[in-house]
Amino acid sequence: MKKQKLRSEEWFGREGKMGFIYRSWMRNQGLTDESFDGRPVIGICNTWSELTPCNAHFRELATSVKKGVLEAGGLPLEFPVTSLGETMMRPTAMLFRNLASMDTEETIRANPLDGVVLLCGCDKTTPSTVMGAASVDLPTIVVSGGPMLNGKYQGADIGSGTHVWKFSEDLRAGKMSSQEFAMAEACMSRSRGHCMTMGTASTMACMIEALGLTLPGGAAIPAVDSRRKVLAQQAGRRIVEMVHQDLIMSQVVTRESLENAIVVNAAVGGSTNLIIHLTAIAGRLNIPLELSDFDKLGSQIPLLVNLLPSGEYLMEDFYYAGGLPVVIKELGDHLHRSAITVNGKSLGENCSQAQCYNQEVIKTLDEPVQAEAGIAVLTGNLAEHGAVIKPSAATKELMVHKGKAVVFENIEDFHRRVDDPNLDIDANSIMVLKNVGPKGYPGMAEVGNMPIPKKLLEEGVQDMVRISDGRMSGTAFGTVVLHVSPESAVGGNLAMVQDGDVIELDVPARKLHLEVSEDELEQRREGIGPAEHHDARGYVKLYVDHVLQAHQGADMDFLVGQSGSYVPKDNH
Ligand code: FES
Repeated sequence: MKKQKLRSEEWFGREGKMGFIYRSWMRNQGLTDESFDGRPVIGICNTWSELTPCNAHFRELATSVKKGVLEAGGLPLEFPVTSLGETMMRPTAMLFRNLASMDTEETIRANPLDGVVLLCGCDKTTPSTVMGAASVDLPTIVVSGGPMLNGKYQGADIGSGTHVWKFSEDLRAGKMSSQEFAMAEACMSRSRGHCMTMGTASTMACMIEALGLTLPGGAAIPAVDSRRKVLAQQAGRRIVEMVHQDLIMSQVVTRESLENAIVVNAAVGGSTNLIIHLTAIAGRLNIPLELSDFDKLGSQIPLLVNLLPSGEYLMEDFYYAGGLPVVIKELGDHLHRSAITVNGKSLGENCSQAQCYNQEVIKTLDEPVQAEAGIAVLTGNLAEHGAVIKPSAATKELMVHKGKAVVFENIEDFHRRVDDPNLDIDANSIMVLKNVGPKGYPGMAEVGNMPIPKKLLEEGVQDMVRISDGRMSGTAFGTVVLHVSPESAVGGNLAMVQDGDVIELDVPARKLHLEVSEDELEQRREGIGPAEHHDARGYVKLYVDHVLQAHQGADMDFLVGQSGSYVPKDNH
């Protein structure tokens, strides 16, 4: 096979002054002459950070990738990019997803790399690095960091996030003591890795496997399992081959593989956050993907995976039951099985031998956890560009519901009044939260699953219809309508809702309707302007000026699309 010229040779293969500059400083790391002999240079894009606890083990994982790259005759070069810790960052990690994607994109393009391995785990670290890499479009393979082991509390399994929401409601309702609450805190996160429920991180890990961007079986291996290191080493080997084969990301991520990710997300009971991130990834690759595609392709798909928050088990159980390949095999013709993956084989081929070892955890199409599980997309005068709900995490009896709105103008207003004993609210009310969308919050925070008012909790109310332009954690549950677009901060009708207005939610009819006349809405519109962020500067200013709406993936308008990998100019 004729050896193709590598991109890195534009740096390391040069003669004269520029060759001297590009090689000489790299030699201070002990690189030998052979390092520059035209071998593939592989970037290991590391989202390691002690401020991102879910990714805190990534230096070790990078070592395994490096071993694989060296074994296959490549030169591994590890580099850091902005890491986003979901539980640490304020006002919300999502505000910085696009920033991290810019960092990833520009670092990859500006450097002498022929291929990249993306190390990601915590919620936003996966979409941000994939989005950035997509805009460069080199051979790319993803290695996720793996989930934590199951949490254990008083002899029972507890799951990241899901049990935090449950325990904090129990504490507020007086069903749990503060001592028990403190004990549970220490029992939940007991190994390295990301959230082990089917929250956003696990959803993202399943998404990259369904997209074909990671080696088969990669999604579910626990972070502490030695097979996670094996997978990383194999990825290191494989990325060198991918460079030789010139198998770039846009050949793997196609309309078909995006559709596969939507179907798989429904079957695993994945997070609503997938919608935002997958749409943004598709946008980077210029592949049309509409909000309605998620409903069309996913809503009829049965829920096969019995994991919290939609089911009972956790990622560790999922792995022992056979993991995602079992689900992919079971989905059969619901998927484009011929879609190519990073190992050069098709998705169908990769999973044809998968076996289920626990049918309580991974069910069959004939006997699913739930018959229809995907995300439903709602439209109506309250969400002209759409809103979403995850029926598998909602209460069946509330899927068709009419109630009077109890409106919170923003998150501060919500915190101030939600537990006020005089709040005029009952179990049939619909809670409405404004100004938590992309521009409004800003950053579209995970606050859509508003806690239920204390006085209702004490009456035994466990769920209510809640509507907002925000998101919710993938670990959360409830009858929660999210991602209302256009958001209230840009003048969507959500901004016009007032206390006492009647709202109709009809999930089977895909309807979200505010029973207020057009004339009345127009009158209310006067005097309500777009949200201003006068004090915004720096990145936040850039974000609020350019972020797109939820149904467009909340990317920034100038980041959509690709610039490729070519850099015409030298640096000296
Ligand atoms: Fe990092 Fe959940 S907080 S994955």
